[in-house]
Amino acid sequence: MAKHTVVTMPGDGIGNQVLPEALRLLKAVEFDAEYIHADIGWDCWRREGNALPQRTIDLLARHKLGLFGAITSKPKKEAEGELAPELRGKGYSYFSPIVTMRQRFNLDTCVRPCISFPGNPLNFIRKRTDGGFEEPVVNVVVFRQNTEGLYAGVEWTNPPEQVRSALAAHPKFKPFASVPGPDLAISARIITRKAARKICTAAFDWAKKYGYKSVTICEKPNVLRETSGMMEEEAKAVSKDYPGIALWSTNIDAQTMWLTKNPEDYGVVVASNLFGDVISDAFAGLVGGLGFAASGNIGDEVAVFEPTHGSAPKYAELNPPIVNPIAMFLSAVMMLEHVGEAAKARRLREAIAAVVKEGKVRTYDMMRIPGGAKSISQGADSTVQMTDAILARLAKQGPDEARQHAEFAGVRK
Ligand code: NAI
Ligand code: MG
Repeated sequence: MAKHTVVTMPGDGIGNQVLPEALRLLKAVEFDAEYIHADIGWDCWRREGNALPQRTIDLLARHKLGLFGAITSKPKKEAEGELAPELRGKGYSYFSPIVTMRQRFNLDTCVRPCISFPGNPLNFIRKRTDGGFEEPVVNVVVFRQNTEGLYAGVEWTNPPEQVRSALAAHPKFKPFASVPGPDLAISARIITRKAARKICTAAFDWAKKYGYKSVTICEKPNVLRETSGMMEEEAKAVSKDYPGIALWSTNIDAQTMWLTKNPEDYGVVVASNLFGDVISDAFAGLVGGLGFAASGNIGDEVAVFEPTHGSAPKYAELNPPIVNPIAMFLSAVMMLEHVGEAAKARRLREAIAAVVKEGKVRTYDMMRIPGGAKSISQGADSTVQMTDAILARLAKQGPDEARQHAEFAGVRK
């Protein structure tokens, strides 16, 4: 019997191109695992009226470890229009399977490392005052609260009367009290102390484990006094247990401005759901963007690893596939780390870093050319060629190379 069981959910579009490539690499590092395919995404919605079928939930509940590609989602009307004819008008509504999965398994901690690979042509470059350029080393890990905040889904257009009257009890609601229901949309930003404390603790634990000097709580407590206020309060309380790790507090708006000014100053960054979503994409943009952005959705029992990108439908039918599989590969590396296979994770990360640094094999995004059917004839390498290059590097890896290689979170000094 294999040591690990992984529920693989390629999903839609390019998810089907990048996930199988990740499995080739996991095999090459001799990850002792059995893979069980599970359905998720748009085809499930169309055929079954449910983008996250119960059988997939059951597999995740049983095996507790998932590797996920990407899904397609579309606005409400389009979703209903694409439903199989026999299912239409039967009350099915589309819910994002990712959000559902996060809520169903309480995958409350989202970890998104944004760490620059030396030699990546997409790394952020800053102009110096003397006219020259420099490439700051970005080594940030964003912790995003994954289940609450503005994404909790408690929202209305035309809120029911009880909601309106409850809101009317707040003096600040006065200017909105006479707005007609259909013209009034409300999304509740819900923060619980327990979840706030948990995400802050996870951030500090990571900082301690990987030697980061600071944790930055990125919120907006001067305006969102209650919700961001509670996040900040908990960050302060948690920080007391971690002497030697500084707690910085920034506002989300200012942070996005400072991002390009001094990204090398930040270590671990922690935020509520929406702000964490924003700031992790922003940091990811400094280290190569969607082709490099990996993530882990981690709960107490279940963990699911996925690239941040979506299904990129416009590239899904291209043969050969052209998209960059590295975001998917880095998600697999995170999965290896999560299950305690640190040596295999290091091997894989070293091989990816070496191929990026060498610069001989680059997908279209790494060449800054348009994606499309012509990318390959314009000199870009394909998805499969990128995997092949990493496999070749793994095969050549000396016994000590991966061990010496300390590129990952915090170890990079
Ligand atoms: P997307 O991430 O699928 O693609 C945006 C653009 O980024 C692509 O057109 C492509 O130019 C580039 N890109 C994405 N992944 C890349 C890769 N691995 N290598 C090179 N370039 C890459 O986002 P978009 O177009 O907004 O959404 C497409 C579909 O994906 C939608 O249905 C959306 O709802 C869904 N989506 C799903 C996500 C998920 O599964 N986690 C996340 C984001 C969007
Ligand atoms: Mg996002």
